[in-house]
Amino acid sequence: MLKNQKLLEQLTLKEKALLMAGQGEWQTRAIKGKVKSIFLSDGPFGLRKQSGAGDHLGLNGSEPATCFPSSATLANSWDQEVGREVGRALGKEAQRLKVDQVLGPALNVKRNPRGGRSFEYYSEDPYLAGKMAAGMIQGLQENGTIATPKHLAVNSQETRRMASNSVVDERALREIYLTNFEIAVKEGQPKSIMSSYNEINGTYANEAKWLLTDTLRKDWGFAGYVVTDWGGDNDHVSGIKAGSNLAMPGLGVNAAEEVVKAVESGELSEAVLDQRVDELLTVILHAGQKPADDGFSWEKQHAVARDAAKKSLVLLKNQDQVLPLAAGTKVALVGDFAKTPRYQGAGSSLINSHDLESLLDTAKDYPIDLVGYARGCLRQGEIKSDLLEEAKALADKCDVYVANVGLDESAESEGLDRTNLAIPPCQAKLLEELAATGKPVVVVLSGGAAIELPWENKVSAILHEYLGGEAGPSAVWEVLTGKYNPSGRLAESYPLTEADIPFDNEFPEIKRNAYYKESIFVGYRYYETAGVKVKYPFGYGLSYTTFAYSNLTIDDQGVSLDVSNTGKVAGRETVQLYIGKKDSPLIRAKRELKGWTQVDLDAGETKRVAIPFDEYAFRYFDPNLGSWQEEKGRYQIMLGQNVDEILLTGEYDLKRGIVPEVKETSSYQKYREGKLLMVTDRDFEEIYGAKLPENRPAGKRELEWNDPLLEMANAKSWLGRAAAKWLARKIQESLDKSKPDLNFLFNYNMPFRAMTKMLGDTISRSMAEDILLIVNGHFWRGSGRLIRDYFQNNRKEKNDKDVQQ
Ligand code: BGC
Repeated sequence: MLKNQKLLEQLTLKEKALLMAGQGEWQTRAIKGKVKSIFLSDGPFGLRKQSGAGDHLGLNGSEPATCFPSSATLANSWDQEVGREVGRALGKEAQRLKVDQVLGPALNVKRNPRGGRSFEYYSEDPYLAGKMAAGMIQGLQENGTIATPKHLAVNSQETRRMASNSVVDERALREIYLTNFEIAVKEGQPKSIMSSYNEINGTYANEAKWLLTDTLRKDWGFAGYVVTDWGGDNDHVSGIKAGSNLAMPGLGVNAAEEVVKAVESGELSEAVLDQRVDELLTVILHAGQKPADDGFSWEKQHAVARDAAKKSLVLLKNQDQVLPLAAGTKVALVGDFAKTPRYQGAGSSLINSHDLESLLDTAKDYPIDLVGYARGCLRQGEIKSDLLEEAKALADKCDVYVANVGLDESAESEGLDRTNLAIPPCQAKLLEELAATGKPVVVVLSGGAAIELPWENKVSAILHEYLGGEAGPSAVWEVLTGKYNPSGRLAESYPLTEADIPFDNEFPEIKRNAYYKESIFVGYRYYETAGVKVKYPFGYGLSYTTFAYSNLTIDDQGVSLDVSNTGKVAGRETVQLYIGKKDSPLIRAKRELKGWTQVDLDAGETKRVAIPFDEYAFRYFDPNLGSWQEEKGRYQIMLGQNVDEILLTGEYDLKRGIVPEVKETSSYQKYREGKLLMVTDRDFEEIYGAKLPENRPAGKRELEWNDPLLEMANAKSWLGRAAAKWLARKIQESLDKSKPDLNFLFNYNMPFRAMTKMLGDTISRSMAEDILLIVNGHFWRGSGRLIRDYFQNNRKEKNDKDVQQ
């Protein structure tokens, strides 16, 4: 018996089909007198409620809202409670803005820091990402708001974002790209989840039954509904069969008719459709928000944003204890960002911030003597000597420079992968010039993902604020002045150079099939195993005090140890548990994060802390057996301040489990030793366990329904090629102006089929097929059909007006 059986009996087949897609940009479909509609809104770190024209790229304006730190920032707090608090605050905001469902948090694993949306994702480590997302989901849903963790799964690049096939081996798939979602679902119990745009091993995520039904619902116990990413629906009926409940944005009546036909022809059983509608209705009809006990106030929201930012700041360097700044220190503030902060990313997560601070405005609230401000350089672009001189001239007046630099808005954005890891050269030059004055330079670094720091040895201190949200600046002053002792730890590795990132030269993949050749060796799993030095390791972050660990005990439940504050001020330590298994025949990272705990300690204080072994501690996915297993035997247990600084080690014998059987070939051996530099496509093929799908050779060819528009560069018709050139030119023009045009970028990476998915019934499937015909060199045939289908579609649209409302 279905949960909403009675209501289902009252719905016609067409009504049930209509419910499987939205209504307009942000709402689910209402059925008059029977089913209400709910409102969905981005996003992960602030509400982007559009009251005017809706779009999914952050192009049009939205209601003012509190801008919290981005997920990449929050992850550095390693504090689930911080995520919970931000989630709660988001829930309040959702209620204020009459938003029922929030499209977030985003928790994809950062496969390569150059992924354009890295600022929106938590970590390179699935365990940390899953835990942090779970906290946010719990907080968000406390008042009844529906959370939507996204994008399930293996969605790692923006290039070809809707037309990319992630080719990934089973172990990496389960251990790296799904474990984050598993933890988020099991611990957060989200009422919804968003499927990703990409294919996984040849099947669209939204059509993968093994993922949406077998793994998500059956294995993880998900009891919510699955929504597509915007325009991410490929074959509507296949999506429904696989376990997808709602295609967004609204698809119009044509799509519902496809579903009706599929039921009538027996392709889709009505029982399956009923099941999908039931899953959706269970959430929509039973959702309801309750007001927070302490009500809503902008001040309180802002304070939550500040607290989260403060706990997420990471002190990377502090030479000669230049920080904290003593009261009365003469500070020269420098940098474009100090006045116009870089505090959030671009795209669907863009927030119209309610109360944006700047370092310059908030300096007066802290016990320093601000002796001047100079822009120093533009955020990007040419070096201007007059701006440089103005900044250098402050050296005579100040004890220390505080320079705010980092990635500018065009460097990282939804729709666009980063071209390198550097900050703009004009900013690097500014730092060098300031350092040359002889005054200590304290860098406040802004940016949502790993940055190359070749200038690091020239400056005295680096405080990384990532993207701190609207209250980031005052949080920065709190740390700079010692009001708060920094406690953030990096949630990703900082490689010495971009070239050290595994298979960086193949990222982003510009052809359809992206081979995830590094397998499980993402981030620190690679650097540690292969012995590649990094600038700052995963888990790294300094404090104004120091800590020591002692008295480690290990039993079947987990580990316990004493943590002491050996310095002169109170502080917070994040004790990290890593586990490895030296003698394993399996491909394994040298060590993996399996738990952590945080402890607040006064100067001189010692506390005993415990970190339990949980269900993830010893498991690995066995592709031969097709299931999770544990390997019996001896493990190395490591407690550290970061992945590279292990302070205590011990051993643990796992009595249960199996002895895995492996075939040690030369390909296997390369992986086992982490020698990724030697790994070829053929080696990966062996790990993948099947023939790798081949990318089509370059050159003119027939384009297909699921080819992105950028492939028109290879079209048979000159018209198609001209259109591709025009699109590429428009994108380049916007990049030259340092303002990436998300609209053009979206279209460039969008497949032909998506035309029918983004605009309701405006473009029918036949019309999109006609356009494809034209692009493929059949101008007259295609144009003739396009005119016919246009009028036919128009007539039909009018007939369907009653249901479209
Ligand atoms: C993004 C999603 C977002 C959706 C709605 C898509 O382009 O990938 O993260 O929630 O748009 O704005």
